[in-house]
Amino acid sequence: MGVNDQSKRQEKTSYTLEPAERFPLTDECKHYIGKKQVPWDIQKYFSQRYSIFSWYDEGVYMTDDAWFGVTPEPVANQIAGEMCSVDASKDTLVDVFAGAGGNTIAFALSQRWKHIIAIERDASTLACAQHNAELYECDPETITWLHADSFEYLALLHNQPDQLHPQLRIDMDKTVLFASPPWGGPGYRTDAVFNLSDMQPYNLDKLHTAYARMDHVLYLPRTSDIRQIAKLAPGEAKVDVVQYCMEGASKAMVAYIPGRGST
Ligand SMILES: C[S@@+](CC[C@H](N)C(=O)[O-])C[C@H]1O[C@@H](n2cnc3c(N)ncnc32)[C@H](O)[C@@H]1O
Repeated sequence: MGVNDQSKRQEKTSYTLEPAERFPLTDECKHYIGKKQVPWDIQKYFSQRYSIFSWYDEGVYMTDDAWFGVTPEPVANQIAGEMCSVDASKDTLVDVFAGAGGNTIAFALSQRWKHIIAIERDASTLACAQHNAELYECDPETITWLHADSFEYLALLHNQPDQLHPQLRIDMDKTVLFASPPWGGPGYRTDAVFNLSDMQPYNLDKLHTAYARMDHVLYLPRTSDIRQIAKLAPGEAKVDVVQYCMEGASKAMVAYIPGRGST
């Protein structure tokens, strides 16, 4: 093989982003058994562990941070169930903040999606998600895990798709994005109406700018300002907004936003 042939072969097999292998669980990945082991700020969540993952005792692993952001299983299942009725032409789902796998698992178990790309930038959290998805017996052929910054992934998808491994190159017209970003920022716990421009580390504008081309679903704080969300509707299209409750209390506000397409 000549030098040129060799470098051509290398070009083809080296990409900026490639699917993640199965990541090993690290010291950060934990399965707490008794309350005494659990850091004080997680104890409230630990006491709700079976509402978060009904198979917790089978060996669910979480990082300490993941407890604060995981979508409880009944809510994740309800969202996944509702998303079964999206336009049949959509066959790919990208979970841009996969966390410990709460939503990814529900989407996989719904069997609605031909292909799910689950992106998480923290290696230990990704290892937990992969482990939990196996525990819940999700079809491994359906999920492509990606250890990356999801904004970088979307930028490459839009601008340099050849930099993505073929498994990560998706048809944007057939794709729905699901985003459960970290929630934070001044007033998020205290304000009656939360200003989504203040959400940290990613505010509504940052999220919407990255996602607008595709249909996207935003999992947001329950007090989010609905007027800011309504403005995201492209043209005459409408945005559906749903409050998801458990035991009478809202857990989150979810906005289903049509994409503006390629125009
Ligand atoms: C609220 S949690 C997601 C929880 C997830 N839906 C679940 O049910 O387990 C947000 C996650 O996004 C990850 N994250 C934050 N910024 C990211 C980025 N730019 N790209 C990919 N993952 C990111 C964090 O590490 C965290 O695990």
